[in-house]
Amino acid sequence: MSELPREETTLPTNSMKVQGKVAIITGGASGIGEATAHLFALHGARAVVIADVQDEKGLKVAEAIGKDVGAFFHCDVADDDQVRAAVDWTAGTYGQLDVMFCNAGVLNRSDQTVLDLDLSQLDRLFAINVRGVAAGVKHAARAMVERRVERRVRGSIVCTASILASMGARKWTDYVMAKHAVVGLVREASRQLGEHGIRVNCVSPYAVATPMTCSQFEMDAAQLEQDFGQFAPLKGVVLKAEHVAEAVLFLASDESAFVSGRDLVVDGAFLCGDHVNEI
Ligand SMILES: NC(=O)c1ccc[n+]([C@@H]2O[C@H](COP(=O)([O-])OP(=O)(O)OC[C@H]3O[C@@H](n4cnc5c(N)ncnc54)[C@H](O)[C@@H]3O)[C@@H](O)[C@H]2O)c1
Repeated sequence: MSELPREETTLPTNSMKVQGKVAIITGGASGIGEATAHLFALHGARAVVIADVQDEKGLKVAEAIGKDVGAFFHCDVADDDQVRAAVDWTAGTYGQLDVMFCNAGVLNRSDQTVLDLDLSQLDRLFAINVRGVAAGVKHAARAMVERRVERRVRGSIVCTASILASMGARKWTDYVMAKHAVVGLVREASRQLGEHGIRVNCVSPYAVATPMTCSQFEMDAAQLEQDFGQFAPLKGVVLKAEHVAEAVLFLASDESAFVSGRDLVVDGAFLCGDHVNEI
């Protein structure tokens, strides 16, 4: 099979897809969240608030996207009060909240097979990957509904699930369970918040080389892209955080005005292919 030329990840700047919008990105200090922060700024966002536990990295990202657009707010999504504070600070400072990207997530280092399931590790992962996302959706929706009363805002909430929300894996039981829960939350929230004009969707990436995955698999980015890329039917494109960010941008923007309750899979047809058993 012949290799197609690699796609450029350089982005067009001629259309401003989130012009004037105010966004919060949990887990925005690194990986997919960081790439999305840059893309939102490139597409005209008025403010992008990085809500993360990594202060130094979060401040750097906020500074890199421009002091007038980027801001950092220390927020551990496992703590409901901190999520509430991040949302209230954003809505108070900028007068609105248009986009909430509930993206912060972790993997456990242990395999977490069913037979060896460590429930305290599961609890910690659920506190971030499930409760943290639920807190983000809840507080963002509350702020959006309050603004909706003024008839000026239609909010968009995007969560990060995973291809592992659509399949079982050989290990990572807690992570797989948690990502299924995110899709469940998106379905619930999209039904309940629709009457307030709020859309709720998620993105489900295949393996992307980020600090989380590189450290989990003890691989550098090139090796991880090679090892996982071979199982995706789509050839000629190496999945990068920027590709996932593009999907998030679409869901955040008015281009997806009638899209709600969906799980936008960014997997180069992995879930349709023959290699699902490899994971
Ligand atoms: N990289 C992949 O292959 C992949 C695939 C599918 C889904 N995902 C999901 O994408 C999301 C982003 O992951 P990534 O790959 O960019 O990893 P990453 O480690 O680069 O980024 C995750 C960010 O979340 C932050 N974070 C962790 N715990 C937090 C907490 N309690 N409160 C606030 N922030 C916290 C981290 O500090 C980090 O900045 C996660 O939800 C992950 O499960 C990643």
